[in-house]
Amino acid sequence: MRMQDLIEKKKNGFFHTKEELKFIIDGAVSGSIPDYQLSAWLMAVCFRGMSDGELAHVTELMARSGDTVDLSSLGDRTVDKHSTGGVGDKTTLIIAPLVASLGGIVAKMSGRGLGFTGGTIDKLESIPNFRTELSDAAFLRILSEHGVCIAGQSGNLTPADKKLYALRDVTATVDSIPLIASSVMSKKLATGAKSIVLDVKTGNGAFMKDVESASLLAQKMIAAGRAHGRNVRAVLTNMNIPLGNAVGNALEVKEAVEVLRGGGPRDLREICLVLATHMLALSVGGDEAALRRLCESALRDGTALRKLADMVRAQGGDVSCISNPESLPTAGTVYEIRSKKNGFIASMDCAVIGKTATLLGAGRETKGDHIDMSAGIVLTKKTGDFVRRGETLAYLHTNRAERLGEAELTYLSALAFSDTPVEREPLVYKIIV
Ligand code: URA
Repeated sequence: MRMQDLIEKKKNGFFHTKEELKFIIDGAVSGSIPDYQLSAWLMAVCFRGMSDGELAHVTELMARSGDTVDLSSLGDRTVDKHSTGGVGDKTTLIIAPLVASLGGIVAKMSGRGLGFTGGTIDKLESIPNFRTELSDAAFLRILSEHGVCIAGQSGNLTPADKKLYALRDVTATVDSIPLIASSVMSKKLATGAKSIVLDVKTGNGAFMKDVESASLLAQKMIAAGRAHGRNVRAVLTNMNIPLGNAVGNALEVKEAVEVLRGGGPRDLREICLVLATHMLALSVGGDEAALRRLCESALRDGTALRKLADMVRAQGGDVSCISNPESLPTAGTVYEIRSKKNGFIASMDCAVIGKTATLLGAGRETKGDHIDMSAGIVLTKKTGDFVRRGETLAYLHTNRAERLGEAELTYLSALAFSDTPVEREPLVYKIIV
């Protein structure tokens, strides 16, 4: 087989056989296919797409390209959740202990943030001594004892995705539905949970900018998961507004604890309740309205918060940060951004808000960058809110006081104002079961 023939075939809109896809995936992992040929093939896939059959094969081949985690000893209640990435998205920190406190076994391998999006593993590492690098044996032991564990993706999980994702990042081939679907679902298949709930973010802070393309992506991911015997549902959620008020690692952990104490921002709490209800419906079963009520009471009575404390303790973290989140890292400077005008906030550009957090030290501009766990933003006004001139729009938390001027201007450039009231957008657009 010759890679140039396979590129030609895809360029002309034909479908690959499983053997051809295996040649490509094996060649990507072994290095026998050079980056320029892989990149040309990725671009051809962007323009020509893939059939459902090709998608199922490529997902399986990528999932099997490295180590896989066998969760079969834990039974059928294993459940995972995946967000396609967003700004202020700390739902995993809330949902994982919440679902586990109600009988689901939440086996989660999460990633780090890159660019403007945050990553769960970075957020958890703002808890002193919290261990995210776990052996498979430790991952399974914590799951069997506590029903929840959140670890980093082990070194050799889906090496094919690592290779292709790195190329996509630099060849403008990230936002292709079959490439995103195979990338996400290969990782989900490799980490072994029987049930998967996908949080497909939609809007200016997400890869999918509109509900139609997000629905198509969700349907493709569901099909790829079901083709391999997994129960999958998707929830399409709004990413035209950051989720909750906190953006940045320790600030987000604090906000997650607020929700687990029965409070916290309404939008964050609502999305967590929806996602947790569907995770329980797939893993434990039962009537959705009753499951939602159980979730509400587990947030109200502290059951879910105790489960988070159990997980933090089991993973070596300083559990006093959960009972006393004020002891999490705090920034040297907290700067107040005040509004220069009166008006309703008409829109917020989430990607620009994520970029502001990165300027403050909360994210990485390049892969190896150090993250300042205490840095970030606390929003006090969001889309739809009326603001008077001089009122606080947000607080910037940083140890890089010299970047505050640039960060303030960047933040303000993310907001558009209107003289008339603005219709609020839905938090959840659609649920695909
Ligand atoms: N998240 C992933 O894991 N892969 C993609 O391609 C896009 C988002």
